[in-house]
Amino acid sequence: MNKCVLVTGGAGYIGSHTVVEMTESGYEPIIVDNLVNASEESLKRVEKITGKKPTFYKADLRDRAALEKIFRKHDIGAVIHFAGLKAVGESVQMPLEYYDNNIGGTLVLLEVMRAANVKKLIFSSSATVYGDPERLPIDEECSLSTTNPYGSTKLFIEYILKDLYKSDSTWNITLLRYFNPVGAHPSGLIGEDPKGIPNNLTPYIAKVAAGKLECINVFGNDYPTPDGTGVRDYIHVLDLAHGHLLALEKVTDAGVHIYNLGTGKGYSVLDMIHAFEKACGKKLPYKICPRRAGDIATCYAKADKAEKELGFTAVHGIDEMCDSMWKWQSMNPDGYGKK
Ligand code: NAD
Ligand code: UFG
Repeated sequence: MNKCVLVTGGAGYIGSHTVVEMTESGYEPIIVDNLVNASEESLKRVEKITGKKPTFYKADLRDRAALEKIFRKHDIGAVIHFAGLKAVGESVQMPLEYYDNNIGGTLVLLEVMRAANVKKLIFSSSATVYGDPERLPIDEECSLSTTNPYGSTKLFIEYILKDLYKSDSTWNITLLRYFNPVGAHPSGLIGEDPKGIPNNLTPYIAKVAAGKLECINVFGNDYPTPDGTGVRDYIHVLDLAHGHLLALEKVTDAGVHIYNLGTGKGYSVLDMIHAFEKACGKKLPYKICPRRAGDIATCYAKADKAEKELGFTAVHGIDEMCDSMWKWQSMNPDGYGKK
């Protein structure tokens, strides 16, 4: 197969880890990213890890001319589409920007792909499309709904891709619904670098462990879960990255193929705090706070479809997740520096 793959959002958290895995497996990733939530430093670090300078274009997906130029210049065989805005709270404040960026960017990308006759796409969807899940563990047939504009952009893009396939059955589209991505590359050179105060649990814990924030706020301990705190399916970013390669290689038929990428196991907020304490070798202060609006009690995947059809299994456990996050945090107290 053609090993030249366009990676939108390839300078970001999951993208940069996937670019490393692709490069090490003989792919030629072509990255397009507007750096709205990333730093070019991540790509310098990718080069340090792989010994290869990744091809990078600083461009917005909505810039049709820039995208067309990239498709003319490179013989692209497939696209992995990570680019998008992803902060749930921000999406509630700025819905128009989220719809414009995520849906507008995807539409331009699809039009340029169609014109270039590149019809293989892997899209970063999310467990957020299951809303408050109708059953557990969550399988790919569960009903879909959303509770915020970010989630709606993911679900609308899934609908757009299904409609596109209905109109032209030569498209080969994979929707990967990620559960909760955590962890970092074992080198400590690349990792998640959120802007400002983190919204997500594990980067927040890492900042408390580093002494940059005072205390972890546990959002609710009265959920119907074993210890009362929220339960999620945390998946190591290295496993996620590997899942994309499997999707590139194993999904050879046209169609819309949908897979959960999770571990099938749920951990509570307190489980994650205690695992991180083990990784950093100190007690971490936390306090119980009210529930966060819009949160659900429990979310974990039924992961066997990806296992059966892609040969995907998450191999990195909770200790590796926390050890690698702590290494990344300790080696890069200010992340990549200025964005
Ligand atoms: P990220 O913010 O680190 O990466 C996204 C990248 O896309 C960034 O580098 C950003 O600069 C770029 N980008 C955004 N809009 C762009 C545009 N219009 N043109 C060009 N580049 C643009 O996020 P991530 O955690 O790596 O997530 C990657 C994808 O996975 C996103 O689509 C996200 O919604 C999805 N996802 C993430 C999670 C998670 O918890 N991290 C969970 C489920 C799904
Ligand atoms: N939590 C805390 N304190 C915090 C942050 C979170 O107790 O400071 C709790 C939440 O209440 C929840 C759990 O930790 O029970 C995980 O919360 P995150 O914010 O880390 O993750 P979410 O499950 O809310 O959502 C994440 C991404 C979504 C994505 C979803 C599924 O933010 O974009 O995973 O992939 F859709």
